[in-house]
Amino acid sequence: MNLFAVKPLSRIIAESEGGEHTLKRSLGPANLVALGIGAIIGAGLFSLTGIAAAENAGPAIVLSFGLAALGCAFAGMCYSEFATMIPIAGSAYTYAYATMGEFLAWIIGWDLVLEYAVGAATVSISWSRYMVTFLHSLGIDLPPQLIASPWQPVQLPDGSTVHGILNLPAVFIVVLISMLLMVGIKESANVNAVVVAIKVTVVIVFIAAGWAYIKPENHTPFIPPNTGTFGEFGWSGILAGAGTIFFAYIGFDAVSTAAQEARRPQKDMPVGIIGSLAICTVLYMLFAYVMTGLVRYTDFAGHAAPAALAIAATPFPWLRMAVSMAILAGLTSVILVMLLGQSRVFFSMSRDGLLPRVFSEIHPKFRTPWRSNLLFMGFVSVFSAFFPISVVGHMTSIGTLFAFMIVCGGIMIMRRTNPNLPRPFRTPLVPLVPVLGILVCGAMMFGLGWENWMRLLVWLIIGFVIYFSYSRTHSRLARDRALEADRGATV
Ligand code: ALA
Repeated sequence: MNLFAVKPLSRIIAESEGGEHTLKRSLGPANLVALGIGAIIGAGLFSLTGIAAAENAGPAIVLSFGLAALGCAFAGMCYSEFATMIPIAGSAYTYAYATMGEFLAWIIGWDLVLEYAVGAATVSISWSRYMVTFLHSLGIDLPPQLIASPWQPVQLPDGSTVHGILNLPAVFIVVLISMLLMVGIKESANVNAVVVAIKVTVVIVFIAAGWAYIKPENHTPFIPPNTGTFGEFGWSGILAGAGTIFFAYIGFDAVSTAAQEARRPQKDMPVGIIGSLAICTVLYMLFAYVMTGLVRYTDFAGHAAPAALAIAATPFPWLRMAVSMAILAGLTSVILVMLLGQSRVFFSMSRDGLLPRVFSEIHPKFRTPWRSNLLFMGFVSVFSAFFPISVVGHMTSIGTLFAFMIVCGGIMIMRRTNPNLPRPFRTPLVPLVPVLGILVCGAMMFGLGWENWMRLLVWLIIGFVIYFSYSRTHSRLARDRALEADRGATV
């Protein structure tokens, strides 16, 4: 029965306070919004907008951004309710432990590795690609075998192709950011704030500079007619486009993993989660509007650097350099917040006994889970060095959507099991909002295809094995219940 044992909320809160295993509460509302934006704006906006416009939605990609934001907003509201009620680093894992029992909590915690650790690897591979291009523009070329995974062919200047050995720049950025995270949450938040300021400024400059050069004929028809195939333009194209650009929104939920480091989580968590999502939605829709106004959507087909193509339609070539910098900065902060989130989720799981203690050991001076950061540095580096981006990218999306659905479901259960608990933030229109969240996320998950379902399944099976061979017997909740039962029997 331990599989479905629910961890009482009073115990969760009590354990998070005091003791040597505590994180430092130093983040205010601005830091939390910056963490959210830090994790959200990254590879997705700059590279997927053009592809989705060319293949799925045309100028109506603007509406796809709105639709995906709506799905995220449903989930974001549920996250906010939980994060104010249970302001613990474990995020969705802890919410599931309090509502659906240990086994499902474990599954979610394990699944979050896909969103955060594998997500960080995905973005580091993208970072590497941009860095290599940037260095090339400065006349610096790294050996081709050291910039790609063994699955990726690299074209040499003489036209021949070789296969990579490992992706060294991707490993470099993972190591660098892991070291920063070990040094401190405040230091990490400060670096994040600078990086976020750079990328948001560039996005706003792009929108402002490009606006005057929008050609209205590029926006007509705004919703190109469907070709007869589902997902190719028309309304179904808007839906398919939303599935593709969903990746661009991943990250707002990472704010909830910093709940234990927020000064006033009850007040500031919804500000961080919904605030960052709202700001990015507005920026994304405007960015997409300008981009498809500068260049006809059909011209983005197969184009590796759609933002550069759009900039070429303005008289501001320097914008290209600025966008390259924003992309590099953007990707850096995405990796930072994802790695931060990952170590915090495992921190909570380790404190509950479901993972070894090493994941919750706090550095005496820096007050960070540094050993966990170190272990994930190794784990993520392996993915960064040796895996192709398409595989890890889809694993990230499917893992995230799965977590969103569980969180939406959890809200409905919690309203029934603990109706009177103080809820500083209440999700409006329950059960409508969580049900819509489940449906929209489920639809996007469905669109990712069976190969990715299989990958998710394999990952979860590995999780089952670990749970039944280790976590179940080490669970603190299970051990305490067994002790209580013993005591009861001897009295
Ligand atoms: N939303 C993040 C990005 O687009 C993951 O890079």
